[in-house]
Amino acid sequence: MAEAVRRLNENEVVGIPTETVYGLAGRIGSEEAIRKIFSTKERPFFDPLIVHVASIAQAKSLTQDWPPIAEVLARNFWPGPLTLVLRKNEKVNDLISSGLETVGIRMPKHPMTLNIIEQVGPLAAPSANKFGKTSPTTASHVHEEFQLEKVFVVDGGACQIGLESTVLLVDSGNRLSILREGAITRSQIESVVQNAGLNCEFYQAEKSASPGHMKHHYMPKVPFVLFHERPRDMQSIKIELMKKIAALPEVVEGIRLVKPSAIEHLAELKLAHEPTIAAREFYAKLRELSNQNPDLIYFVVPKEFQSESWLALQDRMNKAASFTF
Ligand code: TXA
Ligand code: MG
Repeated sequence: MAEAVRRLNENEVVGIPTETVYGLAGRIGSEEAIRKIFSTKERPFFDPLIVHVASIAQAKSLTQDWPPIAEVLARNFWPGPLTLVLRKNEKVNDLISSGLETVGIRMPKHPMTLNIIEQVGPLAAPSANKFGKTSPTTASHVHEEFQLEKVFVVDGGACQIGLESTVLLVDSGNRLSILREGAITRSQIESVVQNAGLNCEFYQAEKSASPGHMKHHYMPKVPFVLFHERPRDMQSIKIELMKKIAALPEVVEGIRLVKPSAIEHLAELKLAHEPTIAAREFYAKLRELSNQNPDLIYFVVPKEFQSESWLALQDRMNKAASFTF
């Protein structure tokens, strides 16, 4: 941790553990570090970074106004997997917010990272993966991802939650919009707001409110296919599958797909039937299967996937999938 602090103070980027996924962090006060985050990730500048804080006071110091709803949400869910998007002030570099008027802020629930932030101040940190790729949930995933760049990583163990935070846009009034699904659900948010005696109204923000949200993301290097029902006979659908794979573009959102010349080695992704455990397993298992270089990875979508507690995983899975069969 001392080494991480030293590097951050010297405008370097460092891999940090959080409860959701590992982040690639730089001090918000260092434009050099912020630029390194984008270049190391090969991330386009239109995709804004989340700022990680260690206190509500730090969060307030970065925003123009701190509405009562933000206070209630932060008090109830921080430290935790909820990012609040609020109107930013001049302390937040335009590179971090991709030129938007707002900034996404959260307090991560990991003692090592909170301690580092207390020492060096707020950290901008996107997930520590190359742009568009599967997010890392262990320190070794981060090493694997940035082998060439030799990123220094603080090893804080495997991530408890395993999927990125819920991103919630908080309008100046009491209007809320979920920009990205995560472990904190709409019902949880509603109940906390109501218990505090406040009102809120959910709306669907325009696409432009959520830059960096692509149709595909988190993709493994081999085709990943979702089945809504378990195929009775894989042999008989191989030709169909090959046709679909042949029709896929070579590069999807910047990710080069390895297309098989035949489907011999199929790898099934199997997840726990409980949503919090399945979420924790998802990226790690997808990565593990992908590293075995199968011709294709598939997942049979369970019926209960429609319920609220599965929404975040469903979203990541749809984005990671090449297609649904
Ligand atoms: O759990 C997480 O949120 C992890 C850990 C490291 O904290 N971070 C993370 O960062 O997932 P990243 O960069 O992979 O995703 C950040 C996303 C952006 O792509 C964007 O969609 C949204 O958060 N975001 C950030 N700032 C925003 C803003 N000002 N307005 C709208 N969306 C914003
Ligand atoms: Mg990410």
